[in-house]
Amino acid sequence: MTTLTIRPACQADLDLLWEFLAIAAYEPNAAAARAVPVVATHLTGWQRPGDFGVIAQRDGMAVGAAWARQFTPSEQPVFYVDANTPEVSFGVYESKRGQGVGQALIEALILDARRRGVGLCLNVRDTNPALRLYERVGFRLVRGSEVRNRVGGLSIGMALV
Ligand SMILES: CC(C)(COP(=O)(O)OP(=O)(O)OC[C@H]1O[C@@H](n2cnc3c(N)ncnc32)[C@H](O)[C@@H]1OP(=O)(O)O)[C@@H](O)C(=O)NCCC(=O)NCCS
Repeated sequence: MTTLTIRPACQADLDLLWEFLAIAAYEPNAAAARAVPVVATHLTGWQRPGDFGVIAQRDGMAVGAAWARQFTPSEQPVFYVDANTPEVSFGVYESKRGQGVGQALIEALILDARRRGVGLCLNVRDTNPALRLYERVGFRLVRGSEVRNRVGGLSIGMALV
């Protein structure tokens, strides 16, 4: 298999990030992701001060991305920890899953967060197999964070410990 490289996400990656936001939010495409305010809020205005992220590439082609954005309570994020704990968005192209791309991305994002002196949190549907990956790299469920999500299931909050 070809080498996987992880690089920082920059301002010019915005279009690419919309594709991965659609994946992260289970929307069919970037246009659909832009049309749902609670989804679009993870990227609108990228790259805000404090936004940071990473992109995974194989053979120079992007295959996945993970990034983090700090919300304020007034933005009414679905899950909020504090002013020093940005929220993760995370997706890998379906054909590239199960090959360690996701783990490499989230580990790189965690390293970057630690360098910046911030935590990380995320909101995940309770049926999402990604829960296992999050626990493996150090996220833990936040008690009392369960909320009904926009498709009628349960989502839970997790934070890096
Ligand atoms: C979550 C995701 C980014 C992981 O990427 P990946 O490259 O497949 O991850 P890796 O190969 O490094 O690790 C595999 C782990 O991913 C998770 N996973 C596997 N298939 C998955 C799927 N279809 N959806 C979500 N997570 C999955 C599992 O935790 C798996 O670990 P396990 O084999 O021990 O159960 C990717 O599956 C994805 O884009 N899923 C759809 C979007 C999503 O759920 N994003 C997170 C929202 S909170």
